[in-house]
Amino acid sequence: MTTYSLLILPGDGIGPEVMAEVRKVIGWFQQNRGLSFDVSEDLVGGAAYDKHGKPLADETMAKAQAVDAVLLGAVGGPKYDDLDFSVKPERGLLRLRKEMDLFANLRPAQCFDALADFSSLKREVVAGLDILIVRELTSGVYFGEPRGISADDTPGNEGGRVGVNTQRYTSGEIRRVARSAFELARKRGNRVCSMEKANVMESGILWREEVQWVHDNEYPDVELSHMYADNGAMQLVRNPRQFDVIVTDNLFGDILSDAAAMLTGSLGMLPSASLGAPMENGRPKALYEPVHGSAPDIAGQGKANPIACILSFAMCLRYSFGLGAEADLLEKAVEKVLADGVRTGDLMGAEGGKPVSTAEMGDHIVAALSAL
Ligand code: NAI
Ligand code: MG
Repeated sequence: MTTYSLLILPGDGIGPEVMAEVRKVIGWFQQNRGLSFDVSEDLVGGAAYDKHGKPLADETMAKAQAVDAVLLGAVGGPKYDDLDFSVKPERGLLRLRKEMDLFANLRPAQCFDALADFSSLKREVVAGLDILIVRELTSGVYFGEPRGISADDTPGNEGGRVGVNTQRYTSGEIRRVARSAFELARKRGNRVCSMEKANVMESGILWREEVQWVHDNEYPDVELSHMYADNGAMQLVRNPRQFDVIVTDNLFGDILSDAAAMLTGSLGMLPSASLGAPMENGRPKALYEPVHGSAPDIAGQGKANPIACILSFAMCLRYSFGLGAEADLLEKAVEKVLADGVRTGDLMGAEGGKPVSTAEMGDHIVAALSAL
């Protein structure tokens, strides 16, 4: 029997609260589906700083490199706001992403029917939405050199300064994230739309050519289309269900994924994954985490919605463990609970009602797993 190794890093604030509910889900799969998980747990962020004086201990980093997947809650909080930049909780997360070389950031935008009225768009436009944005995470304009602010004495330049950032992509960086997108598409609707601005940027021309190259040589079975990113933004708001997988660069992906996320409602519902190069077993290095932060305003009160973290674990089942059927089942359990009207506070509409606690939401989801 395969044993799947998983490192859990609950982190700070509501991180440990939502992670406790994921633990219940893992327990259910072990007991009822005969799956074997080797789960270890460690500290990250402020919790790690409190114990080790830094936001990620070297031993924890080594463990993260060795396991099949890492699942993280959230890091940060007001207690740590005045810490030196080098030991801030966020640095723990950044170190994980950097040393694991997680270059493909996956941001699904899925609209559960029961929550369609939460969207800023009309129900007819978003109901049943299920798209996946793959954002390149380790290169592009956020990292390219040269960069900086310097003096510029060009005649007529009021203020006398210039700010520079460089959009820079190698063909290798584009090909590897394109491969991630095509692999993911094969497990979904088998369609990829690549977005750039090849009409005005040379890096965009290279992006388009390299994505097309990977398609033609390695994934001819996947349907590929190209779109200018500004049109992509319009299409996402006009008719988001036309897409399956979108692959785009770091900057466009940052903006497009946040826009797409808001099509679906609450921050408490949004999972994510960051994938790197394939390991020996053929599966990518991977870190899964909810999109939300440590939510200090509700931490310790049992109010947090654990669904974002539970859906992150569903992504882990699908992409790291190859357990697509189990991932589908878990997503169906979440859907059923929402359809039954079970709501944490963040999902309460104007009509009100009584919200359930974090633990009750977890219990409902486990019960739904058994009932399905
Ligand atoms: P946040 O995501 O923690 O909270 C924003 C708002 O959404 C809050 O009102 C919060 O109560 C609510 N919210 C978030 N997750 C929720 C959930 N699961 N259920 C119900 N309500 C939820 O963002 P904020 O307030 O900007 O940052 C708080 C701390 O978290 C900061 O220290 C920040 O640096 C850190 N942070 C960490 C992230 C991470 O670990 N990846 C990401 C974003 C922020
Ligand atoms: Mg952003």
